[in-house]
Amino acid sequence: MVLRFYWTRMFLVLLVGVGGIGAVIYAIALLLNLGSVTPGLQTSADNDYTKYVDPFLGTENGGNMFPGVVAAPFSMVKLGPDLTNGNADAYSGYLPEGQIWGFSIMHESGTGGAPKYGVVSQMPVLGDVPNPLIDLSQNRSVSDSAKVGYYKSSLVSGIDIEVSATEHAGYYQYTFPSGSSSSVVVDVSHVLPSFRGLGWGQGYAGGYFGISDDGSAYEGYGVYNGGWNLAPNWTIFFCGHFDQAPMSSKTFIGEGTTIHSYGDNLSTNTTYRHGGVFSFSQSKVASRVGISFISSAQACQNIASEIPPNTSIQTLVSRAQTRWNQQVFSRVTTSETNLTILTQLYTYLYGMMLIPTNRTGENPLWTSNEPYYDDIFTFWDLFRCGTALMHVLQPSAYEEQIRSLIDIWRHEGWLPDARSSDYTGRTQGGSNADNVLADAFVKGVRGMVNWLDGFNAMKTNAEIVPPNNFDAIADDSSTRQGRGALSDWKDYGWITPAFTRAVTRAVEYAVNDFSLYQVASGLGFFADADRYLIRSRNWRNHWNPAQTSFNSSGYLVPRDANGTFVCGRCYWAEPYYEDTPWSYSFNAQHDIYHLIALSGGREAFIERLETFFTPNLTRKNAAYGHTLFDPANEPAFNTPYLFNFVGRQDLSVKYSRSIAMNFYNTGRGGIPGNSDAGSMQSWILWNMIGLYPMTGQTTFLVGSPWFKYLRIALGDGKTLTITSRGGNRNSAYYVQSLKVNGRSWDKAWVTWEDVFAHGGTLDFVLGDEPALWATGTLPPSPASDESPSVFW
Ligand SMILES: *[C@@H]1O[C@H](CO)[C@@H](O)[C@H](O)[C@H]1NC(C)=O
Ligand SMILES: *[C@@H]1O[C@H](CO)[C@@H](O)[C@H](O)[C@H]1NC(C)=O
Ligand SMILES: *[C@@H]1O[C@H](CO)[C@@H](O)[C@H](O)[C@H]1NC(C)=O
Ligand SMILES: *[C@@H]1O[C@H](CO)[C@@H](O)[C@H](O)[C@H]1NC(C)=O
Ligand SMILES: *[C@@H]1O[C@H](CO)[C@@H](O)[C@H](O)[C@H]1NC(C)=O
Ligand SMILES: *[C@@H]1O[C@H](CO)[C@@H](O)[C@H](O)[C@H]1NC(C)=O
Ligand SMILES: *[C@@H]1O[C@H](CO)[C@@H](O)[C@H](O)[C@H]1NC(C)=O
Ligand SMILES: *[C@@H]1O[C@H](CO)[C@@H](O)[C@H](O)[C@H]1NC(C)=O
Ligand SMILES: *[C@@H]1O[C@H](CO)[C@@H](O)[C@H](O)[C@H]1NC(C)=O
Ligand SMILES: *[C@@H]1O[C@H](CO)[C@@H](O)[C@H](O)[C@H]1NC(C)=O
Repeated sequence: MVLRFYWTRMFLVLLVGVGGIGAVIYAIALLLNLGSVTPGLQTSADNDYTKYVDPFLGTENGGNMFPGVVAAPFSMVKLGPDLTNGNADAYSGYLPEGQIWGFSIMHESGTGGAPKYGVVSQMPVLGDVPNPLIDLSQNRSVSDSAKVGYYKSSLVSGIDIEVSATEHAGYYQYTFPSGSSSSVVVDVSHVLPSFRGLGWGQGYAGGYFGISDDGSAYEGYGVYNGGWNLAPNWTIFFCGHFDQAPMSSKTFIGEGTTIHSYGDNLSTNTTYRHGGVFSFSQSKVASRVGISFISSAQACQNIASEIPPNTSIQTLVSRAQTRWNQQVFSRVTTSETNLTILTQLYTYLYGMMLIPTNRTGENPLWTSNEPYYDDIFTFWDLFRCGTALMHVLQPSAYEEQIRSLIDIWRHEGWLPDARSSDYTGRTQGGSNADNVLADAFVKGVRGMVNWLDGFNAMKTNAEIVPPNNFDAIADDSSTRQGRGALSDWKDYGWITPAFTRAVTRAVEYAVNDFSLYQVASGLGFFADADRYLIRSRNWRNHWNPAQTSFNSSGYLVPRDANGTFVCGRCYWAEPYYEDTPWSYSFNAQHDIYHLIALSGGREAFIERLETFFTPNLTRKNAAYGHTLFDPANEPAFNTPYLFNFVGRQDLSVKYSRSIAMNFYNTGRGGIPGNSDAGSMQSWILWNMIGLYPMTGQTTFLVGSPWFKYLRIALGDGKTLTITSRGGNRNSAYYVQSLKVNGRSWDKAWVTWEDVFAHGGTLDFVLGDEPALWATGTLPPSPASDESPSVFW
């Protein structure tokens, strides 16, 4: 069928999307509050890297990092304060300003969209509590303090709250003012609200609350729904103990702020607000609370096995610090002594391992021998460089995560792009779990992964139109899973404006199809491989060579039947999701040589890239220097490194280092946008390492390392060691020469096999002027028919 169409006009609209929140760059090197932590909380680890971790890094300016307690990487329990401040959404529970209205046990970290979780809480209150349903929030008398495994708040009421945790249980240590009674309110209806008005708020749908015979323990469950992934009802069970006998233990049932019953033992299942109030005369009271997705018996078991009676907070803090040191920090070592840089290194490592959440043994939906991970936010954010770094830094956890993904497909029929509360939701562009699986496959992740199932899971995305979930914000097709606009992609080879986010989806579906090609080739399914390779080139069908902007011509544009195109503020309903035509037009990462050819060749491509990073070119995004490039969102993550494809590795170093220096720092505003589950942290960590992954391929583009010496333990005794000499981080960072595994190297790229599969060494000589060292073969562009030699 031949369809007649006209190229549409493109309006370049610079925008601030969900992740595009204004950033202020803090030039202050600081370890916030770390000095004010209770003395005596020492770690037992020989090498304590936790002293470099600032849990507040990225909690402000839209970073949305969770500063509370996460006892080990990927812990199910994330215990921290919930803040309320007018109509501000508290994505991780925490806000820098405002009042504390509880400390709850489940949170996410670094997410945008709308808050999720903030459930299973306690709130300490001075004196009796005539009505536990009214606003009990309290200001703080001093700033909160935190370190790995520990968080402390002091309320104006005179109550101090210190918390620690294990993977499935939390610990509260209260210090009440002496001479007065105090109470702890447990409100099952406590859940983080959203004020954005997008219809993504969370709801409380009821629960159970029961008090033990002696009044010092409670158990029950709460049911919640909503959040950014539009989840249906889900249930969390809890089991709480106090270490002191309360003067009184009461339950309450009510609605809004109206109490229906208060005082009796009203243990019951109800959709009303429900909970308990425990009053104490002692000034020191501790509480242990376990949670489970399976049952309150399992919640009690989790507390019994992880925090038995009489466990001290010091024990828990030091256990958490040992876990982080052993499992994460000690794997990355450096000769660096500058505190600012060490704080960045270890805090970014910490920040990228708070989610996903290891829920192995806690899956309420099915029983299986596979691991189970939840809280994926989102592969759209993570696939570009986050998952590739997870593979390098945490190979065992990464293999578990890959197996879990495939198991979700096995039991639900679809791979998630995002998931939380055991519910897949929010696909923004393509089906980017495909890229994550392909990346693992081409880099040799095998172990217990069933790759036939893995490929079939990818094929579901590539062949079956997912059922429409009729999302109020984009009801054209599924925003839940799979590829909503697949029918156009298959029928035409492009995506018509019948579908929202048409250009974003097209360029991402192309990359997804390339991912299928990679896995099909490796498994020997050559007919599939051929078909998906051809389909992976269909991003080209959106290219309009006549479209010009800022002296460059040729852009990815929507194709529609009549030539009209309006993009007011690109978001869910518009052709470009959360970014611009400029940005998406660089995104065919598997077919870069064809992109270069379409862009007018080598010189034109270099000019186009440099224009993208030119300050003061636009009038928007003042916080980011008015560039077309937006450092606060993921679609342009790869772009600063694309100069390597045209023999200008020096320019990749120049622009990526400038972004790293200008938009990342220590301090509360230390990352430029939503962390997005550690995506931002992984981008800056790759910059520090001096490599950048081309996800779905074995290629790593060479940048410039920040360190004289950096060693990464890769598992199984293998290491990657990176050294540099002759340069410095701030100005003399241009590569003069490189040795890989001791041999002189003239390529601006290495492969997985070169330095990761068996370990390896990268020895750089750096200097303050660019040098022409990368004169060898250019990086591969596996979907392109062009040979790179045409550009020389
Ligand atoms: C908290 O402090 C702010 C600013 O001082 C004040 O306006 C507010 O009323 C206080 N809120 C509570 C609950 O004490
Ligand atoms: C969620 O739970 C509430 C309370 O039990 C119930 O009324 C509602 O129907 C449930 N919603 C769904 C979608 O199951
Ligand atoms: C409260 O009621 C529950 C359920 O009837 C019962 O198991 C529990 O022992 C009671 N607790 C107290 C303190 O009476
Ligand atoms: C009420 O809650 C209890 C405790 O969790 C549970 O065992 C029971 O099955 C629930 N009953 C109903 C009708 O949901
Ligand atoms: C906890 O400590 C208290 C006071 O030292 C002691 O009486 C109690 O037996 C201990 N409980 C356990 C389970 O060890
Ligand atoms: C540490 O590094 C930071 C960031 O590059 C720099 O501003 C600071 O001067 C350095 N400190 C020392 C003591 O060299
Ligand atoms: C995930 O949880 C399971 C069950 O607790 C545990 O066996 C496994 O080691 C955990 N994985 C990681 C990476 O910690
Ligand atoms: C476009 O070209 C004109 C004329 O050569 C030049 O003055 C201008 O700076 C260029 N603009 C950009 C964004 O490169
Ligand atoms: C162009 O097509 C769109 C649907 O793709 C339609 O809504 C619009 O009315 C058409 N405009 C003109 C001028 O035909
Ligand atoms: C961009 O414009 C601002 C305001 O006019 C100016 O302060 C800044 O130096 C300019 N930046 C560059 C790189 O030209």
